[in-house]
Amino acid sequence: MTAIAIDGPAGAGKSTIARALARKLGYIYVDTGALYRSIGLYCTEAGVPLEDKAAVTAALEQIRVELRYVDGVQRVLLNGRDVSEEIRRPEISLAASSVSAMDTVRAFLFDLQRNMALEHDVVMDGRDIGTVVLPDAQVKIYLTASAEERTRRRMAEYEAKGLHADFEELLREVNLRDEQDKNRAVAPLRKAEDAVELDSTCMNAEEVLAAIETIVKERN
Ligand code: C5P
Repeated sequence: MTAIAIDGPAGAGKSTIARALARKLGYIYVDTGALYRSIGLYCTEAGVPLEDKAAVTAALEQIRVELRYVDGVQRVLLNGRDVSEEIRRPEISLAASSVSAMDTVRAFLFDLQRNMALEHDVVMDGRDIGTVVLPDAQVKIYLTASAEERTRRRMAEYEAKGLHADFEELLREVNLRDEQDKNRAVAPLRKAEDAVELDSTCMNAEEVLAAIETIVKERN
């Protein structure tokens, strides 16, 4: 099996690139953020306090997360319910970031991620794929972009969905999430030593994809 790990901060373009790359290579795209988001959604809906590790850990016993692929598109099931759209809500981004700092939550989702890579050729994106989940991945990319550029991209995504977004507010959210993801004790966001770093601030999606395809070819 071949695994391509793409890590980086929120809004760097990981999911767009990973999805397109997986389609080109005939691999499965695994969006691991969706898993943390579904735990965040469960806790938000069930009124489990997000900063209370004992409460979140206890709630895990009530949670079953599964991934399904419909025409190659990932769907996330939370206790049998398809939550793929709901987990995209902005408040769920922050909820995911909070629960993902807990080692119990990370351990809970570990096997699901590992098994996907054992059973399929994958392009997997997240924060700790190259460092923790798939340390032996054949290709590791660390994709970044400036906070302002990442905020502009998020704005465009929201606007495309007809959602209103305020630039300053989104920039604050992007910075807060970066801060939480980089400074947590377990599996912090960082570049794996053997990852190739790509700064996409001044690149469009096609250019990033072409650059990664070149790296993939070099490694194979
Ligand atoms: O990638 P996405 O923005 O959907 O991820 C939501 C949150 O889940 C991130 O801010 C991060 O805190 C967490 N996450 C993580 N490890 C991953 C993927 C996501 O901690 N592999």
